[in-house]
Amino acid sequence: MRGSATPGGTPPPNPPGTHSGMWFGGDYNPEQWDAAVWAQDDVLMREASVNTATVGVFSWALLEPAEGRFEFGWLDAVLDRLHANGVRVILATPTASPPPWFTLAYPDAMPVTRDGTRLWHGSRDTYCAAAPSYRRAALRIAGELARRYAGHPALAMWHVHNEYGTRCWCDHAAAGFRRWLRARYGDGDHGLAALNEAWGTAFWSQRYSAWEQILPPLATQYLPNPGQDLDFRRFWSDELLAAFTQQRDVLRQNSPGIPVTTNFMGPDHLVVDAWSWAREVDVVAVDHYLSSAGPRGLADIAFCADWARSVGGGRPWLLMEQAPSVVIENGLMVHREPGRMLRDSLGYVARGADSVLFFQWRASRSGAEMYHPALVPHAGPDTRIFAEAAELGAVLRRLAGVAGSVVTADAAVLVDTDSRWALESRGLPSPHVRHLDVARAAHAALWRSGIGCDIAAPDADLSRYRLVVVPAVYLLTDAAAATLRRYTDGGGHLVVTFCSGIADESHRIRIGGYPGALRDILGIRAEEFHPLPPGTTARLSAATPTGAHGNLWTERLRAEGAEILARYADGVLAGLPAITRHCYGTGTAWYLSTLPDDDALDALLLEAASAAGVRPALPGAPPGVCVTRRHGNGARSWLFAVNHSDRAATLPAVGVDLITGREVTGTLELPPHGVAVIRDA
Ligand code: GAL
Repeated sequence: MRGSATPGGTPPPNPPGTHSGMWFGGDYNPEQWDAAVWAQDDVLMREASVNTATVGVFSWALLEPAEGRFEFGWLDAVLDRLHANGVRVILATPTASPPPWFTLAYPDAMPVTRDGTRLWHGSRDTYCAAAPSYRRAALRIAGELARRYAGHPALAMWHVHNEYGTRCWCDHAAAGFRRWLRARYGDGDHGLAALNEAWGTAFWSQRYSAWEQILPPLATQYLPNPGQDLDFRRFWSDELLAAFTQQRDVLRQNSPGIPVTTNFMGPDHLVVDAWSWAREVDVVAVDHYLSSAGPRGLADIAFCADWARSVGGGRPWLLMEQAPSVVIENGLMVHREPGRMLRDSLGYVARGADSVLFFQWRASRSGAEMYHPALVPHAGPDTRIFAEAAELGAVLRRLAGVAGSVVTADAAVLVDTDSRWALESRGLPSPHVRHLDVARAAHAALWRSGIGCDIAAPDADLSRYRLVVVPAVYLLTDAAAATLRRYTDGGGHLVVTFCSGIADESHRIRIGGYPGALRDILGIRAEEFHPLPPGTTARLSAATPTGAHGNLWTERLRAEGAEILARYADGVLAGLPAITRHCYGTGTAWYLSTLPDDDALDALLLEAASAAGVRPALPGAPPGVCVTRRHGNGARSWLFAVNHSDRAATLPAVGVDLITGREVTGTLELPPHGVAVIRDA
């Protein structure tokens, strides 16, 4: 389990300068265009109320055309022009794409894949973050930028690199891995013995007798060692983090007072541990690209936004990138229907985002992403997309006062990086169980019921939550298990799913019956796993809505003190418990040995929520209408209502609708697909 920021409670104040009004705009790559286009950009940015541009993300080759020779004139002009136009700049360090001269000078810094293939320039992200020559070059350009632009009036924030997430298995990575392992397990024979024990190297003749024998998990003959794989993932997240913090520190030294961030790739991203990274940035910034234009996409927006807010300890966060209109579904570019730019964007803002930024401002006419959507499409500004962008910009101007306000929740779903990584191992009972899928299913069930939800790490302070869901948190440290035990004992309501608490922090099974870390809290014991093949389900008996089925996983379970709420109805497990509830201390713990269908999961979590005294943000809100609340200083708050359905809806509300400017005196009428942001009177 990785360290965590603590969501919930009163979030710490924002670092100065990170939030002022709603930031609107996105990546701006003017180096692709000429002066006539820049002049049009200025006009259109004003027209669309753009106030923020992220600049220089991939500009290394232009800024340093030869090693040690810097050309900043063009960037000076861009920043001056944006400033004159009232646009603040998030200035990136361009280190995600080293120029071709770098490859030729330092071929050893090119990344190597697990099977030993070295990658070359011709795309982007071709570097190994553990290569000393890369780190030196990255620090040098970051330092030059910081010294040059420290006092520039347009500079609002530093954006280090772009989407840290590349991996490498080269010799530099191997050396770094061995250093990291020595720090973790201790140097010398004692440390090596601890490593052998943690990785279970007694099996298959893998015992290491010298540190030099240890390699990254390279391509090998059969199943790799799960402990080695897990530690390499941990090491690599820390190695990338060190690359980030080095740049951050150079920027901080040379331009004091300017906040520093980097753009995380959203909850799905598997390479870095967001909990430990979030502690190192001045503000959490997240890129989010939907993979479904339909209802799953809406639930995903809520999940990503709750995650982004929570990894940052509950503070407002920045939506650094999203796509203006298109979702890539199985390789196809699918347009979201008209109106979604506003509705989807408010979905993030309602859950704590203080910005709506896009990739990118103007669609490129060449290069690898020339078909990527943009606020100014190829067809120009006389288009639906630009009109929607301008409408969104106008709305966000009216929401300036919302910036800095927070969202609180009484329920939390746990998300744990180590469990995600461990469940990626081969040789587990099912390759189809992914921690984040189960977390997302639980979150979506609460979302459908209108229940506000944080995301929390298993070792966070959970005491402020009334309901905590533990979704396939496969790997639990003793300390985290103790936290869950204390939480339940003290009156908490805990819902645990299958595949939780099975392994310890080295990915060794906790023996004596599953789930070893949580059996006592749950009052159950499982002795066999029966994972379900894709496309098959297990029928469940009573206490779940008629016809409910379990998906993904089942197990041979016995109740040891727990009450049985539902049983398996057919097959070899017929009659055995499927869903249980147990009183532990002054709290209650549910166990789901399978993943119920949506309806049954909704009903179960709603029942647990009401037992815990957790209520929806607006009880009785019509289906399809998402309602959330942001709280400002004092008693001020804003109610966000987004109608995703094609039916008109009415809700109780009093205040001023900042979107229409109208006063609402008791009942808010929301048209189909309408949105409202009600500032309390
Ligand atoms: C992001 C990336 C951008 C752009 C965008 C396209 O992941 O940061 O540079 O490539 O994807 O969707």
